[in-house]
Amino acid sequence: MSAPNLESPSPNHHQNPYGVGLAYRYSCHNDYLKYEGEIDLMEVSTEDYIVRERRMHRDPDELLIKDALNRWPTVVHGISLSIGTVAELNPHYISGTRDFIKRHDLNIFSEHLAFHSVDGKDLTMFLCMPFEEIAVQWIKQNYYAVRRELGRPFALENVTYFFPAPHSSLSEADFLRRITEETDCTLLLDITNVFNNAMNHGYDPYEFLDRLPLERVSQMHLAGGFKGEDGKWEDSHSHPVMGEVWPLYEEVLKRSPAEVVVIERDSRFNSFSEVHTDLKKARDLFYRHRPEKRPAEDLMPAFESPTVAENSDPEPLASKFAGLRGYQRSLMGRITDTEFRTQFRADPPIALEQFELTDAKWVDSISDIDPDDIHKLQSAWEYIHEEDKEVAQDYEQNEWAVWAEEIEASGEAI
Ligand SMILES: [Fe+2]
Ligand SMILES: [Fe+2]
Repeated sequence: MSAPNLESPSPNHHQNPYGVGLAYRYSCHNDYLKYEGEIDLMEVSTEDYIVRERRMHRDPDELLIKDALNRWPTVVHGISLSIGTVAELNPHYISGTRDFIKRHDLNIFSEHLAFHSVDGKDLTMFLCMPFEEIAVQWIKQNYYAVRRELGRPFALENVTYFFPAPHSSLSEADFLRRITEETDCTLLLDITNVFNNAMNHGYDPYEFLDRLPLERVSQMHLAGGFKGEDGKWEDSHSHPVMGEVWPLYEEVLKRSPAEVVVIERDSRFNSFSEVHTDLKKARDLFYRHRPEKRPAEDLMPAFESPTVAENSDPEPLASKFAGLRGYQRSLMGRITDTEFRTQFRADPPIALEQFELTDAKWVDSISDIDPDDIHKLQSAWEYIHEEDKEVAQDYEQNEWAVWAEEIEASGEAI
């Protein structure tokens, strides 16, 4: 590995990242260095540096990430905001993210348009927002709360989902469009997620693109997954980008002003040449439809920022969101709470009363979710829960070990 580059870049190259890059994973740092000139930018997951357990195991002194930040223009991607959850914002997430962005003088931020954390339980898998106008209004309120805290507009990413909320009154594309109409967010369009959702939920991905506000797409993701035994595509970030995804990517390149493209890969790094091949292909296509260098004027067109929102409803749990909140709490109950599941099976309306869910539309929506889908998420929850316990235990042991070594080195008795 070459000597780390810890000098501050000048001028700050994080202000306007442009081109195609990779989702930064510290374990691949040396591989990245081999292809340094072919990587236009990096995307860093904030949680790797603000969550105690993750940081402990990865890059505790931030030496690798500082080296990466100095080599490549970088965008920031958060994963644990759960912007769709009808609840107060998590102050640790907000302050950690804000500090990380500030500490490294970064500029571009994105998060996921979904929810996964309810009543203190974090599924760590994205759940689909109901495609309803009331959910648009909640996202608008929470988007501006986050925007105020972070001091910048940001992009929202479309996620893959097991199932949509039954009986939603909007299509997914119209839901995304409504959010761009109500806020000044841009879209991080994950092209693989578009493909997966289209295949898994039976719609045409090109018709989906036709309904989207492509002029608001500022970033794209590409990732590779596989088709599971149940015939559903998995968003595993473990394989090369699927052949069917490339034409969709090119379509969005032609029709959007997106300036940032990121290849996401989270496992099977032993075949790094696969990542390199995807990077080369994504760059070739990018520069076929874009100038090699950023033009003097920004590619992203200015758009009218809605006049609403900076002073939007300060009461997050206002009664107008009670139905949506009840849906989210009941869904999490069906996934994680054995007692609730038993009550729900016996008498859904009575069980749902504990979450103050009485509105017939929402009762139908939660009741009509396929039990098989719930069962898959329930298994995932049980697995995650066990893994969390192990990680926490491991951390305690590691912390103890580090502390013991320090004491020993200082010559004090333990
Ligand atoms: Fe993401
Ligand atoms: Fe993504």
